[in-house]
Amino acid sequence: MQLLDDLMLFTPPPPASTPPAPRAALVTLVGAGPGDPELLTVKAANALRRASLVLYDHLVSPAVLALMAEGADRVYVGKESSNHSLSQKTIIELMLRYARAGRPLLRLKGGDGYIFGRGGEEAEALAEAGVPFEVIPGLSAAQGAAANVGIPLTHRDHAATLVFATGHGREGGDPELDWAALARPRQTLVIYMGVGTLARSCARLVAHGLPADTPAAIVERATLPGERCLTGTLASLPELARAEQVKPPALVIIGQVVSLQPLLARASARHPAP
Ligand SMILES: C[S@@+](CC[C@H](N)C(=O)[O-])C[C@H]1O[C@@H](n2cnc3c(N)ncnc32)[C@H](O)[C@@H]1O
Repeated sequence: MQLLDDLMLFTPPPPASTPPAPRAALVTLVGAGPGDPELLTVKAANALRRASLVLYDHLVSPAVLALMAEGADRVYVGKESSNHSLSQKTIIELMLRYARAGRPLLRLKGGDGYIFGRGGEEAEALAEAGVPFEVIPGLSAAQGAAANVGIPLTHRDHAATLVFATGHGREGGDPELDWAALARPRQTLVIYMGVGTLARSCARLVAHGLPADTPAAIVERATLPGERCLTGTLASLPELARAEQVKPPALVIIGQVVSLQPLLARASARHPAP
């Protein structure tokens, strides 16, 4: 944290004369994927190996961080729902300070930075401050989870639309969502950050018209060691998740596509890495 403290204290003195301001260094916003380092994009892995300074989030796996060059600086700026080590405002200020001090930095986020990753807020702040940046996408947790456990997110017989929703309100608690739209038939619904609100979400979907026997799954630690997938229905999943003590990070997947999971999980061959 020394590096972070140094930079938080760093406020360049106003120049005596006014030479043109030096151009800020490049910020690279990188999606680290769902956890398995083999699911990083080639572009993300190359950027990570080249980076001399990385600001990383809570959900970036140690195996991904291990790709960083020896001697590169890393700063943890993670935010768990129960423990926000730095506020979003402070993270943005820190990024701006590094960039304006001329240090290129790589901002590493779990999954894809533009999907429930506040990458949009950070990109907005950089754009408004005139700091150059580029964005490298990552595989979102939903894609990693679905492929690993055997749930195709769309399927011509079962789901023609796919919706990603948050299970977490802006200020904590329940999110304000259009439950009628989420309860449409022939749709797959993936809920991020939905462990704490699972029972209420399932009840709301049923209240808005989805049958209580709609297949539903929860995938914990997708693509990471200890990955688990529990399947049930809108009626049974909350109790199952509670009894099995499912904890974040986990994703809820709801819709008829979940009925394919037993067959596809059984039939798909997982090849261990050589
Ligand atoms: C702040 S959101 C970040 C989402 C991320 N930007 C993405 O595209 O996957 C955090 C939530 O993503 C989901 N998540 C992230 N990684 C996961 C994983 N490996 N397994 C299951 N869920 C995961 C969980 O719902 C977690 O609470």
